[in-house]
Amino acid sequence: AEDGYDLWLRYRAVEAEAQARYRPLAAAIVSEGRSDTIDAATQELRRGLGGMLGQAPATAARVTGDGAIVIGTPAGSPIVARLRLPLSGLGHEGFLIRSVTIDGRRATVIAANSDIGLLYGAFRYLQRIQLRQPVDAIDLSDKPKLDVRVLNHWDNLDRYVERGYSGESLWDWQKLPRFRDPRYTDYARANASIGINGVVLTNVNANADILRPEWLEKVKILAETFRPYGIRVYLTARFSAPIELGGMKTADPLDPAVRAWWKARTDEIYRVIPDFGGFLVKANSEGQPGPGDYKRTHADGANMLADAVKPHGGIVMWRAFVYEPHNPEDRHKQAYTDFVPLDGKFADNVLVQVKNGAIDFQPREPFHPIFGAMPRTPLMMEFQITKEYLGFATHLAYLGTMWEEVLESDTGRPRAGRTVADVLETRVRPGALTGMAGVANIGTDRNWSGSQFDQANWYAFGRMAWNPDSKAQAIAADWTRMTWGAGPAIDDAVTGMMMRSREAVVDYMTPLGLGHLMATGHHYGPAPWVSDLARPEWNPVYYHKADQGGIGFDRTKTGSDAVSQYAPSVAARYGSVDRVPEELLLWFHHVPWSHRMASGRTLWDELIVRYDRGVGEVAAMQARWDTLRDKVDPGRWAEVRDFLAIQHDEATWWRDASIAYFQSVSKLPLPAGHAAPA
Ligand code: GCU
Repeated sequence: AEDGYDLWLRYRAVEAEAQARYRPLAAAIVSEGRSDTIDAATQELRRGLGGMLGQAPATAARVTGDGAIVIGTPAGSPIVARLRLPLSGLGHEGFLIRSVTIDGRRATVIAANSDIGLLYGAFRYLQRIQLRQPVDAIDLSDKPKLDVRVLNHWDNLDRYVERGYSGESLWDWQKLPRFRDPRYTDYARANASIGINGVVLTNVNANADILRPEWLEKVKILAETFRPYGIRVYLTARFSAPIELGGMKTADPLDPAVRAWWKARTDEIYRVIPDFGGFLVKANSEGQPGPGDYKRTHADGANMLADAVKPHGGIVMWRAFVYEPHNPEDRHKQAYTDFVPLDGKFADNVLVQVKNGAIDFQPREPFHPIFGAMPRTPLMMEFQITKEYLGFATHLAYLGTMWEEVLESDTGRPRAGRTVADVLETRVRPGALTGMAGVANIGTDRNWSGSQFDQANWYAFGRMAWNPDSKAQAIAADWTRMTWGAGPAIDDAVTGMMMRSREAVVDYMTPLGLGHLMATGHHYGPAPWVSDLARPEWNPVYYHKADQGGIGFDRTKTGSDAVSQYAPSVAARYGSVDRVPEELLLWFHHVPWSHRMASGRTLWDELIVRYDRGVGEVAAMQARWDTLRDKVDPGRWAEVRDFLAIQHDEATWWRDASIAYFQSVSKLPLPAGHAAPA
């Protein structure tokens, strides 16, 4: 029975007519040159073609008939070298797939400059068949637009996953290093299929234990398993590790003994894992130690670690997600205040990792003002794939649309039209790094991600990290076909549901620019009324500021002036109550309940319309899903049906609780036409 384990790599048999078309083009696999990566590519082709075409092509050493798939690099394969293909622009990870003639025989070549390019090419070739696209007369090449495409696992060593809703951590530390769970390989295959080339194994809040020698022996096995798939392993580095592991009195990044400790520990890591990727660090944020404890800057801290990994080719991803307790400055402003003055002060092998918005992975936030504001610092995006604030595993919320919205945002810096995606893709100097991180939604659940539809967010993240200019709609369409099977009814229903799903969540949780109204701690369900937490910026009332006069956070000049951190053109738009997109109105403005909206309704009435619309959209998804009852397998179908029912209950809960609370503040009547609370 289907349970979702195969993700988008299901490789079920294609229709007979399509088999007849594809089989003659995939009669044999010819590969020259041997490596674990080439083996992985060949195996994947055999697995995929075997499944889809009903027979796995034989592997051969030479081209002896029509229909061979030739796979190789010019360095490893004389056949490929003789074809003199234009590979020079494809870099280390790109690939080319082309229909060619070899000794009079029709063949398809998958070529690259390196073995990993071949694996990516193999997955792309298979994807074309999954999507029923032609593979004859083919001529395509592709390469990633970003260098570091990395998952951040918020996994603790006891296998608890922070903000994880899909079971335990995949990393079975207790059985490592002896036992290599075969699932690690399937995980690597899935990642390679979408171009992910790094994984941070440990939580940003983890303790320092992972850096102990006995743990590194376990990490080594994971690194070995992932290596053929082009995936490097990274670890989080707790800034106070020299104290906790080294018995030192300080972790001051300018203290020579501290620096020496990190160097020695890093050398040790590289002795065990020669291609170790480097460190991810959360410092001076939410109670984590950091250079600020010693009155040093984030650059001082990052550069110390960068020095340690530099001789080995490693990198440091230093997070900009910082805000302090008892800092009266709007939390929205604090990261920018701390980091922008450090522009140009980070070592070459440091990337500053910035969340998409300035608060925290809300259903909708404007783009983070740091993007565009640090032109001399490589910035990488941090998206959250796991749905901490979007209904955990059960609510259907496709995040591709949210990420596209952020990536397309015009930073206005240094000029109009320069988007967040441009900032990510443009090297700040020749050879500088680029990247994107996604907080993983992967665990031990059979379906990996907690729900069938959450797999789409893992998939979409990989595609957007490979190419930040990708379109959410196209990604959803590809994923739908690969995951649910071909057919126009499925395509339309599933992709249609996905494309509107995130806006539905925005509507029933945090419409019109509201944010951070979730219950405390676990962040599940509504709690806009909470006001008694010790740290003011953790209270929902801090964010909506509703009173009888109105609602919203004034971030203009009359308020916190966070808008001034954006480029003047962007600030002018966000800062004007008339020009700000309505979707962000209450993010930037405190307006009276009677404020006139574009619809002609008052803000109060509009708010209620949005809540109702969100619930209605979930009902519409349920109705659409019902039409697929006989078109998808019963196991997965029933899971989605039940999860949508949960989502409908909880969307209703969000709406009713939010309206009841805001009504207790606004003291306004419910508009006509609003459904009575369930
Ligand atoms: C959020 C999340 C935390 C996480 C933090 C971070 O605040 O709730 O669990 O540690 O983000 O990104 O560091």
